[in-house]
Amino acid sequence: MSDTAAYIQALEVSNPLLEPVIRSAIQALDLPPGSHGLDAGCGIGRQALLLAEAVGPAGHVTGLDISPALLQHAKGIVQMAGLLHQISFQAGDVRRLPFGDGTLDWAWSSCCVGYSAALPPVPTLQELARVVRSGGTVAILVWSSENLLPGYPLLEARLKATTPGLAPFVAGSQPESHCLRALGWFRAAGLEACAARTFVGGAHAPLRSELRQALIALLEMRWPNAEAELTAEDRSAYRRLCRPASPDFILDQRDYYAFFTCSMFWGQVAVAPLAIANQVGL
Ligand SMILES: C[S@@+](CC[C@H](N)C(=O)[O-])C[C@H]1O[C@@H](n2cnc3c(N)ncnc32)[C@H](O)[C@@H]1O
Repeated sequence: MSDTAAYIQALEVSNPLLEPVIRSAIQALDLPPGSHGLDAGCGIGRQALLLAEAVGPAGHVTGLDISPALLQHAKGIVQMAGLLHQISFQAGDVRRLPFGDGTLDWAWSSCCVGYSAALPPVPTLQELARVVRSGGTVAILVWSSENLLPGYPLLEARLKATTPGLAPFVAGSQPESHCLRALGWFRAAGLEACAARTFVGGAHAPLRSELRQALIALLEMRWPNAEAELTAEDRSAYRRLCRPASPDFILDQRDYYAFFTCSMFWGQVAVAPLAIANQVGL
């Protein structure tokens, strides 16, 4: 299986766990019914479906991604949902969006802005804000925490302190580049009425098959290649607890409970003085 195919599969398998959290975040944005918006870095398109649900049948969502393979998968999902009239996809770069100034009502981006050095947060947010009309919303969602190994806080803390555990933050980076400082990114990008809110997802034993598979995928995605940074003792505990074939696999514990959080940051595109004058009839 290619890396992209494996990535698509991991996103699909983990979706049942993530979807309720992302739906709650999108609902909290209160996007106007009938509005038109952008899902920047849309990946496999699952969130475009939720955004379309939020704006209703008169609204429209454009999913944009740099990966043709992900877009192809996304189109298949939307076609199967019978929503090709409401959701379209476009290959493109979030750093140079193929849309005119102020042509959209809102822009959404999950786990993309600030996720690599190639996508510096402030210029990327400025580009998202450029294509949104005055008063429209720009929102990003970031993965912000997890507790997946109940009863093993030290092991989990050490996993979180590895390079993959810290990612996309890089040890030694400026504190302001951490995604939980995104309010500062929004303000620096000129957005107004900036706000933040955290949404919690979780699962507990007995786990339905699809949630068990989702948690297995999450364990694999969260700490890839972390073993090399662990002590021999921690590595052995990690393998014992986190490998599905192990008799001590943590998801099979009868009292297993896990939760994670995603945090949303959002702001409004400044209303231009001319637009204010028009609104008040000057
Ligand atoms: C971590 S995935 C998140 C996907 C989806 N938003 C989600 O939350 O499931 C990051 C996505 O951003 C896309 N991406 C990365 N760089 C990009 C760029 N410069 N322009 C557009 N999309 C980009 C990737 O192809 C990938 O689909």
